Amino acid sequence: MTVNDNISLGKRVKIGQNSIIQEGAVIGNDAIIFPNVFIGKNTKIGIESIIQYGAFIEHDCNIGKHCRIGTNTVLRRETNIGDHSIFGSLSASEGKNWIGNNVLIHSQCHLTTGIIIEDWVFIAPLFVGANDPKMLHGRRRVEKFIPKGPHIKFGSGIAVNVTLLPGVVVGRECIVGASSLVTRDVPDFSIVFGAPARVAKTVDESWKLPEEMYEEFRMRVSDEDLENFLTRVLSEYKH
Ligand SMILES: CC(C)(COP(=O)(O)OP(=O)(O)OC[C@H]1O[C@@H](n2cnc3c(N)ncnc32)[C@H](O)[C@@H]1OP(=O)(O)O)[C@@H](O)C(=O)NCCC(=O)NCCS
Repeated sequence: MTVNDNISLGKRVKIGQNSIIQEGAVIGNDAIIFPNVFIGKNTKIGIESIIQYGAFIEHDCNIGKHCRIGTNTVLRRETNIGDHSIFGSLSASEGKNWIGNNVLIHSQCHLTTGIIIEDWVFIAPLFVGANDPKMLHGRRRVEKFIPKGPHIKFGSGIAVNVTLLPGVVVGRECIVGASSLVTRDVPDFSIVFGAPARVAKTVDESWKLPEEMYEEFRMRVSDEDLENFLTRVLSEYKH
């Protein structure tokens, strides 16, 4: 275990063998860091969060309280995850993205730079979010690349094996069916599926979350906050 002197370690934190914690990191009370974990410079881990075996968390990430970061995950720089959220095993975040509270991301998901995932979203395994419409790669030498991540709004459910193309917005409390390829924005409260995904119907009343939960989210985070976040992190974007 290599723990830099210049970190803030809460009370009763447990750190497993061979883990590395770099300077400026802040680990909240009662957090559990399993063996073989890497936590980069200035990354914050909230109270009672659990970081499982082999998680690789780069610098300047923010992980809220009571989160679980799964086995062999990769969270690249400036990944932001709210409270009570789960990031499933073998999933990867490219960083400079925003994930809210009470979000459940299953195993083997790929969260691209610039993606926004609001509170109470569920994402099943094998999710892919894309952010580069032109796949510029080496052509970024001649054309400026600004990532355009998808945005999944409050309370939506994304079934297994879904792909969201760059910049698409999945509205509030939608259901995106298994193996969908989402190429266009999805209106609030819709059920969509297929490749390309099309609206099949609207969700049942029984699917809708209590309005107080939505209001609580809105008190905490506005559309403007999310827009400002994207402007800030993506203006200084370098691959
Ligand atoms: C989107 C979903 C909720 C639709 O369920 P539903 O409303 O009960 O739809 P139905 O089963 O009544 O199917 C209606 C029609 O749509 C088709 N259909 C349903 N889901 C489809 C999908 N994902 N892709 C393509 N066609 C689909 C059905 O084949 C059926 O067509 P048919 O009338 O020609 O036979 C469901 O397909 C789904 O994806 N559930 C989530 C599963 C999942 O991934 N859970 C996460 C586990 S970790």
